[in-house]
Amino acid sequence: MHTLREIPDLRTTLNHHRRRGQRIGLVPTMGNLHAGHLALVAAARERCDVVVATIFVNPMQFGAGEDLAAYPRTLSDDQAQLEAAGCDLLFAPAVDIVYPRPLESQTRVRVPEVSEGLCGGSRPGHFDGVATIVAMLFNLVQPDVACFGQKDYQQLAVIQRLVDDLHFPIEIQGVPIVRDEDGLALSSRNAYLDTHQRAIAPRFYSILRELRQHLEEGAGVDTTLAGGLARLGEAGFVPDYLELRAEDLGPVTATTRDAILLAAVRLGTTRLIDNQPLLLPR
Ligand code: PAF
Repeated sequence: MHTLREIPDLRTTLNHHRRRGQRIGLVPTMGNLHAGHLALVAAARERCDVVVATIFVNPMQFGAGEDLAAYPRTLSDDQAQLEAAGCDLLFAPAVDIVYPRPLESQTRVRVPEVSEGLCGGSRPGHFDGVATIVAMLFNLVQPDVACFGQKDYQQLAVIQRLVDDLHFPIEIQGVPIVRDEDGLALSSRNAYLDTHQRAIAPRFYSILRELRQHLEEGAGVDTTLAGGLARLGEAGFVPDYLELRAEDLGPVTATTRDAILLAAVRLGTTRLIDNQPLLLPR
């Protein structure tokens, strides 16, 4: 696997593959890879001839006071994992290659409506940063397929809307959440949890599953969510939001069947997100 750091090198290499008629799969990441990322590589591998991963800790998607400086940077370990997973090319640019201008002068992409509320409500500007870097990577790599995890459900919806609205000829592939044996969704931020917090963390998943079951059995939405917030609090989490939405993230109506329960919580200073798709009864 080659690691490229410069845009012209990336373009030249990919043009070579494109001229040979090869399908290109993109896996954008911020590094500190775990089995969830490797599932994205496997999904791209299945669908494409050439798999390109990117590692870039994108400053534009971090708010003031968030963990940009602390975000784990583990390039050589990531390279070894990508190579073993069958990735062909890694693009790992420096910040000034991606953003040669100060961030406040940089062109931004904003995806309205679907970026608002949920994580977008508690992290203002976050999805503008995500949409901007993803649109830039789409432009640089021009992949046939791009793979993203379903843990970041709202991010996936933002990226799908970006592709639809800007007519990128790219298939977006959502890849199921990979969990630890105890149910905790894999996340680079799990590394911030101390031993006590790590022992509590799987309760987030188990509470969401119980709530899903109640909702699928016809329990009232408002009372279920109120009870869920209380239970998350009792388990030691500080809930950021707990919401039931239609699967396209629109509001749940009397005719909604496919829905999604989404939550973000804080455990100490660590923010965790998770979700549970569900089928509401008629
Ligand atoms: O999900 C992530 O790791 C990031 O938000 C992404 C999509 C790589 C953009 O920086």
